[in-house]
Amino acid sequence: MIASYQAQCQARVDAALEHLFRPHLAEAARLYEAMRYSVMNGGKRVRPLLVYAACEALGGQAANADGAACAVELIHAYSLVHDDLPAMDDDDLRRGQPTTHKAFDEACAILAGDGLQAMAFSALSDASADTLSDSTRLHMVRALAAGAGPAGMVGGQAIDLGSVGLKLDQAALEQMHRHKTGALIEASVVLGALASERAGPDDLKALKVYARAVGLAFQVQDDILDVESDTATLGKRQGADIARDKPTYPALLGMDAAKAYAQELCDQALHALRPFNASAEPLRELARYIVERRN
Ligand code: IPE
Ligand code: IPE
Ligand code: MG
Ligand code: MG
Ligand code: MG
Repeated sequence: MIASYQAQCQARVDAALEHLFRPHLAEAARLYEAMRYSVMNGGKRVRPLLVYAACEALGGQAANADGAACAVELIHAYSLVHDDLPAMDDDDLRRGQPTTHKAFDEACAILAGDGLQAMAFSALSDASADTLSDSTRLHMVRALAAGAGPAGMVGGQAIDLGSVGLKLDQAALEQMHRHKTGALIEASVVLGALASERAGPDDLKALKVYARAVGLAFQVQDDILDVESDTATLGKRQGADIARDKPTYPALLGMDAAKAYAQELCDQALHALRPFNASAEPLRELARYIVERRN
């Protein structure tokens, strides 16, 4: 089920993303090329999937979630372009291809990231203007800004860079992961719920508990795969965290305990969805996929 749902949502968000790259400033063609290169390159699209699945869980229309699905993937793509820069993780491979600063140059990669971030907010605020209320769209912009900004993903990246070579305890590691990865995942679920225009306070509360568990599980699994997978499967260098002495869950807890923790977080996510009926099945499948995935 997850594979066909994933393929269907990937095709949907890819078509919507493709549309966003159409108009462009001829004099900045190389910048657009770098932006497009950084997005249309086979990511798993987990965050858009969470947007669509959360919208569907509340009985919303997928068409109303397209803008949010594009926006979270654009923010994610920008975060990867900057994460791979020499000043940050200094990686040369992403999604099986040279990283943006390798395929273009560093200045171009910095600008491509900047451009993608602005494009995300433009996609979100323009989306479904005829069907979603202004107040819903304002809430969505707020939720994305919170998830992406200094109190969210960017803050987490700052904690990550400040933690290289340090021995973090589990609370500090969790704080870092919840920000750098969890915050945008939580925003994805919230955006999907808002796009349904049917989210009551209890729905949002339950979905946030789900998203917090899934968001942390996602980065725990990313850390596990850095040790256990291989470069061809990952599409990024295996062992990069170890080489850079990054604090990770397997390094802190050991591999068996890290895996048990990922499973426990998946169970917590599923527990949070108990009040929902069969329409939340894609969200349930995604929680399982996130801890079982091999790339
Ligand atoms: C990788 O994210 C970076 C993290 C936040 C852990 P993904 O594993 O979702 O990467 P893509 O989008 O599929 O390439
Ligand atoms: C990245 O975490 C989180 C982001 C906000 C981009 P990682 O540095 O672990 O991601 P990968 O392993 O390079 O994909
Ligand atoms: Mg990093
Ligand atoms: Mg990295
Ligand atoms: Mg990683």
